[in-house]
Amino acid sequence: MYYIGIDLGTSAVKLLLMREDGRIQNVVSREYELSFPHPGWSEQNPEDWYRQTLSGLKDLISVVDAKEISGIGFGGQMHGLVALDENDNVIRPAILWNDGRTEEEVKYLNEQIGKKVVSGYTGNIAFAGFTAPKILWMKKNEPDLFARIKKIMLPKDYLAYRLSGSFCTDYSDASGMLLLDVKNKCWSSEMLKICGITENMLPKLYESYEAVGYLKPEIADSFSMKHNVVIAAGAGDNAAAAVGTGTVGKNKCNISLGTSGTIFITSDSFRVDTNNALHAFAHADGRFHLMGCMLSAASCNKWWMDNILLTDRYKEEQEGIKTLGENHVYFLPYLMGERSPWNDPKARGAFIGMNLNTSRAEMTQAVLEGVAFATRDMYEAARSAGVSLERSMICGGGAKSPLWQKMIANILNISIDIPSCEEGPGMGGAMLAMVADHRYNSVEEAAEAIVSVKSTCEPEPLLVEKYEERYQSFRKLYPTLKDVYGEL
Ligand code: XUL
Repeated sequence: MYYIGIDLGTSAVKLLLMREDGRIQNVVSREYELSFPHPGWSEQNPEDWYRQTLSGLKDLISVVDAKEISGIGFGGQMHGLVALDENDNVIRPAILWNDGRTEEEVKYLNEQIGKKVVSGYTGNIAFAGFTAPKILWMKKNEPDLFARIKKIMLPKDYLAYRLSGSFCTDYSDASGMLLLDVKNKCWSSEMLKICGITENMLPKLYESYEAVGYLKPEIADSFSMKHNVVIAAGAGDNAAAAVGTGTVGKNKCNISLGTSGTIFITSDSFRVDTNNALHAFAHADGRFHLMGCMLSAASCNKWWMDNILLTDRYKEEQEGIKTLGENHVYFLPYLMGERSPWNDPKARGAFIGMNLNTSRAEMTQAVLEGVAFATRDMYEAARSAGVSLERSMICGGGAKSPLWQKMIANILNISIDIPSCEEGPGMGGAMLAMVADHRYNSVEEAAEAIVSVKSTCEPEPLLVEKYEERYQSFRKLYPTLKDVYGEL
């Protein structure tokens, strides 16, 4: 039997085909356009997601007998607003997780309604990328389009809807809408009222590992698949990545270096970060987690390589970096504003500290270190919330760089475990499909059987000390620049 994990990312959809024993049989990816119609806005066309998923599926399954495919699960970019009309047509391009247009709406929710009240309803305060402020933005700025809304869903749920006909979501992804009462796992009637929507516009809620239906017969036929391919609810990409790296159960951590960067800490019971720097969300294993999210992580390096250095030789550029812990250049990675811990859509990137001797390699190093320092900022927020860690898994495109792994291990002073497969969300999606199809009794059982650690990157005391000193300088930079950002 085979299972498919669909990781609906920001730059591409990545599809993974896994045998029931966990062996990965094939991985394919298909890119799509990401548009920035105004500075700080970020949109995508849901039809592109669906078209590219179907195109990828065709290649993915070409290596096996399609009749042996038993299930499909998802890990999807979180928080995106997908709105459909009464004929199930997409009303406007999806507004994505890293879109910063809702400053006013966030202010309204956090200041007028009040952080305490909103957090009381949902477990979280408002951040610019969350779904509820986007609904309010549409209500105010696009009233005609808003009036046509009949269904509201998240990106991966749009795929599930097209593939199965089931209007569904899961608790981990729904947590990021700011419409869910996360602790009690139900829609918050108060938040729905504040946003001017009704519960029948929202999908049915499932655990990530539950089956929501079957692949539509006409789609199954077009791929020569059988008619009872189970569709699992799936999870937000970070929860799915946590499943894919075995970060399930209690007090485990996964760091993801993808387009965004996250620190994901599992918890047995629901808990809130009283400083509101971390999100309090449901996990795909049926439990909960705390998560910090920085909006630009591996995307900073991509921007630096592709747009500024005009090179695709990522590995060679990193080979020029010789001395860790001593770089005089700092980089602030806030290219799309910042979520955790600053909650500031106006923040922007910055290089600081260059002199006439500064080299290209030092600036590249500063970019990688800036992302690692900002990860440390999120880790500090977790420590203030009482979390204590000795180690973390790591995944995402950036995690493929041994140099970046080493920076993270030393800047956070924790052991970094590198999984045998870095395809976190796709792998997690496939594992959730296995549980939905009763191959495993629980997500934990699936993780135990399937996930393994390839190697560990340990912190080195001397380097930890050097980086500690540099981090203490880094952490002063955002507060110093904050007011300037407001004026840019
Ligand atoms: C998490 C978040 C991002 C996206 C990236 O809160 O916004 O990690 O899920 O796809």
